[in-house]
Amino acid sequence: MSISPTERRSLWWGVRNDDPDADRPTEPLPAQAETVVVGAGLVGLSTAVELARSGRPPVVIEARRAGAGTSGHSSAKVSLLQGSRLQRLHRHAGVETTAAYVAANRAGQGWLTELLERRGTPFERRLAVTYATSTKGAEQVAEERSVARLVGLAVEDVGGADLPFPVRDAIGLPDQVQVDPLTVIDALLAELTSLGGTVIENVRVTGTSLTRPWTVTTTAGDIRAENVVLATQAPILDRGLEFARMRALRSYVLAFAVDDLASVPRSMSLSLDEPTRSLRTASTASGHFLLVGGNGHEVGHGGSTVDRVREIEDWARSSFPVGPATWSWAAQDYHLTTQVPHIGALPGTGGSLFVATGMDKWGMAMAGAAAQLITGDITGTPPEYAGPLRSSSVSLSDVGETATFVAGVGAQWVGRRAAQLAPGDADEPPAEGEGRIEGNPANPVAVSTVDGRTCRVSASCTHLGGVVQWNDVERSWDCPLHGSRFRADGSLIEGPATTGLRSREES
Ligand SMILES: Cc1cc2nc3c(=O)[nH]c(=O)nc-3n(C[C@H](O)[C@H](O)[C@H](O)COP(=O)(O)OP(=O)(O)OC[C@H]3O[C@@H](n4cnc5c(N)ncnc54)[C@H](O)[C@@H]3O)c2cc1C
Ligand code: FES
Repeated sequence: MSISPTERRSLWWGVRNDDPDADRPTEPLPAQAETVVVGAGLVGLSTAVELARSGRPPVVIEARRAGAGTSGHSSAKVSLLQGSRLQRLHRHAGVETTAAYVAANRAGQGWLTELLERRGTPFERRLAVTYATSTKGAEQVAEERSVARLVGLAVEDVGGADLPFPVRDAIGLPDQVQVDPLTVIDALLAELTSLGGTVIENVRVTGTSLTRPWTVTTTAGDIRAENVVLATQAPILDRGLEFARMRALRSYVLAFAVDDLASVPRSMSLSLDEPTRSLRTASTASGHFLLVGGNGHEVGHGGSTVDRVREIEDWARSSFPVGPATWSWAAQDYHLTTQVPHIGALPGTGGSLFVATGMDKWGMAMAGAAAQLITGDITGTPPEYAGPLRSSSVSLSDVGETATFVAGVGAQWVGRRAAQLAPGDADEPPAEGEGRIEGNPANPVAVSTVDGRTCRVSASCTHLGGVVQWNDVERSWDCPLHGSRFRADGSLIEGPATTGLRSREES
């Protein structure tokens, strides 16, 4: 299956005919600010708005365009019913933390809908559904029902909901929200600038000093700040040992044009079967769409990504009256082995260098909560749910999962360096759309051909040296360690790396 570059934009960017990497004029970097927020996704902009409301308008620095990261590629269900999230939290962190997580999401969802209503940004209320078609999935639905009710989330039994195939079990939560995430970004930008905040796009932060006041180094010069908020998904600095317990998870979303919305499910559904399936509708200026997502995997692991996209398309076309997908895209989010998002100050930074990571594909409502948590820390007025959300200790299973992951990462680091080299550095360049690793284990070279151009770049990720893997559907080099991604020419797309892969063209 070949997917043209145009089709590979998210529906949200696509219907605007806009590009998350287009340059746009930006303001000069000021010499100092009380707070610098790094990253203009939902988390960074929500935090910036909340800071501005407290009388501390920050400077936001974004490497690409606002919404260029996962936020502008989200399925954008702002829901408290989140698949198997509550049972996983309950198992790892206990009932009090799970209840605090629900409280944080409720507060974050309210924070966001209040802003959207006030700004006149449209959104839709929908029944959220978690369902299963398999016996194993049904057991998980039952557990999610019981944990949800234990922590006061009033889920209902909804039979087969409005799904057109047999369902073994399903729970629902009414009045959840679906939205176009870029309209949320627009609303946040408008609110922030009206309160005196500044957003500087197309400038990448490359590091900070070791102590406060922070000197933040960027591609446009330095800026000094009393507080820094790293709202970059994976933090670009590792001062809290985040990377040892973090997995980058990538998944796929396809949008199918629909003439009559009555022909597809109206609810926002998520299956607990393997592979998972996520459904929602979207009404845009270019018509109605059914969004189908799923087939997640760890970035840089799991083989051909073309097959994953093809499988979602086949499933959607056999389950619903839709033709070929109009838009197809992928995005990633970070899972922490502790299950609980890490939102707060890093240790040893005097409570002034913050991260917000580990949203685990449920950051839409948590963004508002992250805004309240970080602003509350800076102003000395944290929300009530802050204590229990942060008090969860690391369980034995977390330690086991982290150890297994670190061991697996180590094995791949060593093994791939040795084993994945193309035999004999084949003379022929890779075929169109393909990539391979050549050279020797100490100095591997990533060679690919895209749009007729063959590029040779270092295969060692500029973050911490992982050996990148070819992503055949997105035609990118993806790092299996912490999810940094690079274009065929080595330029950086996303992730904790702050520079691109070095060119290895032989002159
Ligand atoms: C396929 C998919 C579907 C999802 N669907 C849902 C859903 O239905 N509901 C839900 O609640 N959640 C969903 N999520 C999760 C949700 O979209 C994310 O949790 C949320 O968007 C994360 O927001 P963020 O601001 O942390 O990250 P981002 O939006 O990625 O923002 C981080 C920003 O930081 C910038 N940045 C990075 N490094 C630097 C640097 N060095 N200097 C300057 N800027 C930098 C990036 O360019 C980016 O714009 C989904 C996730 C995926 C992957
Ligand atoms: S992203 Fe960390 S080593 Fe590549």
